[in-house]
Amino acid sequence: MPGITLGDTVPNLDVETTYKNFKLHDYFADSWTVLFSHPGDFTPVCTTELGAMGKYAHEFEQRGVKLLGLSCDDIQSHKDWIPDIEAFTPGSKVTYPIIADPNKEIIPQLNMIDPIENGPSRALHIVGPDCKIKLSFLYPSTTGRNMDEVLRALDSLLMAAKHKNKIATPVNWKPYEPVVISPAVSDEEANKLFPKGFKTAQLPSKKGYLRVADVS
Ligand code: BEZ
Repeated sequence: MPGITLGDTVPNLDVETTYKNFKLHDYFADSWTVLFSHPGDFTPVCTTELGAMGKYAHEFEQRGVKLLGLSCDDIQSHKDWIPDIEAFTPGSKVTYPIIADPNKEIIPQLNMIDPIENGPSRALHIVGPDCKIKLSFLYPSTTGRNMDEVLRALDSLLMAAKHKNKIATPVNWKPYEPVVISPAVSDEEANKLFPKGFKTAQLPSKKGYLRVADVS
């Protein structure tokens, strides 16, 4: 994926949105943000995705995380589209801003391009309070995203950040499940960091690298 990627600072672009116009860094300031792109307004998959985001908005709010959509049409089109989005997904409210990008000038700068189609993708960046990208998804326009996975991945990032990346989350992890201890942490340090203790998986290699801790 050429362009900005994990660890890069999102450019501080001036954006026009359905709420107000702002600089991206002002929006990102002091919180985590989920920034997600859509190929265009009044398209079927995008209508379902934006509706799902509206339905999950309270989950992001509870975590102190902001949402920021982007679709490759103008503000009036976005505003005309919102009633369809909310009608299709009962219980959904589009309470988050949607960036306008009618000329597709912003998506390349945010690396939200499908390189096969050479056009807009369903990209999603989770941006930290430092305005750097912590995680990216890149889906083609034919595949709608899974909002449970967005939330799950976000919870993993928040958990790792809370523990200063001394832990990681294993396959299919969900909040309140045990985490694994980073290979960079010695057993001695792990004993200090995890007062409830940790378990080392007994594996054929006997290398002791898979250590599981309960941090709930
Ligand atoms: C959609 O949102 O349904 C869509 C958009 C662009 C291409 C294909 C599908």
